[in-house]
Amino acid sequence: MKITAVILAAGQGTRMKSTLPKVLHPVCGVPMIEYVLRAAWEASSEVPVVVIGHGAEPVREFLGETARCVVQEPQLGTGHAVQQAESSLRGKTDLVLVVYSDMPLMRAESLKRLVETQKTNPGPFSLLTVKAEDPRGFGRVIRGPGGDVQAIVEEAAATEAQLAIHELNVGAYCFSAEWLWEALGKIKVSSKGEYYLTDTVALAVEAGLRVQALELEDLVETIGINTRVHLAEAEAAMRQRINRAHMLAGVTIVDPASTYIEAEVRIGRDTVIWPNTYLRGETVIGEDCVIGPNTIAEDTSVGNGCEILAAVMEGAVVEDNVGIGPFARLRKGAHLCQGVHMGNFGEIKDSTLGPGTKMGHFSYIGNAAIGAEVNIGAGTITCNYDGVHKNKTEIGEGVFLGSDTMLVAPVKLGARSRTGAGAVVTKDVEADTLVVGVPARAIKKLGLKVKE
Ligand code: UD1
Ligand code: CA
Repeated sequence: MKITAVILAAGQGTRMKSTLPKVLHPVCGVPMIEYVLRAAWEASSEVPVVVIGHGAEPVREFLGETARCVVQEPQLGTGHAVQQAESSLRGKTDLVLVVYSDMPLMRAESLKRLVETQKTNPGPFSLLTVKAEDPRGFGRVIRGPGGDVQAIVEEAAATEAQLAIHELNVGAYCFSAEWLWEALGKIKVSSKGEYYLTDTVALAVEAGLRVQALELEDLVETIGINTRVHLAEAEAAMRQRINRAHMLAGVTIVDPASTYIEAEVRIGRDTVIWPNTYLRGETVIGEDCVIGPNTIAEDTSVGNGCEILAAVMEGAVVEDNVGIGPFARLRKGAHLCQGVHMGNFGEIKDSTLGPGTKMGHFSYIGNAAIGAEVNIGAGTITCNYDGVHKNKTEIGEGVFLGSDTMLVAPVKLGARSRTGAGAVVTKDVEADTLVVGVPARAIKKLGLKVKE
């Protein structure tokens, strides 16, 4: 049996008061439509169709190859929106799973149950409902004396008695395709000038056909986003869901309420996350790490056994057993190899620090390749920018940089060389050589061997 999802994403989202199309507003770092698309895909058998309209181009661009897009122009309501998918789907699918794109918390499981419900329903469609104290402006589900669904009434058109009904229309339906295409043509325009998909309920009932309701237990799944207040509610609920999944998978989150982990982030077992930590984008954290308090990581990969305290990291790579912070900043292209120690008030950009290298205090390292077991003295600065170009600094293994060394790039320091405190290095330094002063000059050859 062919099941195709149709996701409605053409509405303007007026109540968001935004230039960004509603469905591209992120929830835990991922545009809300992505969640619905994935869940609907899981519950269906064909590539989903997304109805776009308002802000069509950015939405189409975001979706790329993950969906087939059809355009609804002008946007005349949810029934009219589904109609736009007819020409591409007629005769090509048995069931049509219609889902609104503003429900990021909807689970694939629930949509699968909806599809299963319709498979055994002799009537033309099934829909999801939920009972809630706060109706949130949702359409009310009207049931007849025998409990059968009779109609869905939008809040604006509801009577006093209908407004008091607590069973709500969630915005997910599974239709028998052939019946759907016929019914869509019969929907009458509402007082608001729109064609409501919800009117298909009354059409079925008038024809003596049964509409099956599947009631969801978990209210959270049904959070529909119309305003930024709803967006914050969805964000909080999604954050809880994400944190819970990490905890159940073996991550300690000391204070989930102040821990922000975006949807794509991965974390290894026995890692401990302290409060006020924000893990964003495609960040990956290994096992047995201690992260935070007060740490931000974006698109950063951290190995196993790292301790990172009060640091900000963007686009960085941190290998195993690295210690960072407090108050450290890793920018794009920072690469800390195994066992690096980076202490307080350091900044690293586009640079590699070799295994075991130590940078304890107050340094800026940019556009540098630094070897293994280098000691970067307090206050060391790579003067990498001459006003026009970014220039490279290369430092060999076992180098010892005295406090307050200025490395005027481009410059190379040979293995095991040393600089005196306050040296301003403007010329390359040979291996095993001590340089001092301003500008730095070689004063002696060192017989040092590399540490075993
Ligand atoms: C809709 C339902 C309501 C339900 C609620 C659940 C209708 C008429 N009402 O109301 O019963 O309780 O969702 O959240 O269906 N869209 C289009 N084209 C349009 C209009 C809307 O694609 O012309 C899309 C929107 O992008 C959105 C979805 O359809 O994803 C629902 O539209 P929205 O305006 O949010 O409907 P609600 O007023 O929330
Ligand atoms: Ca809505």
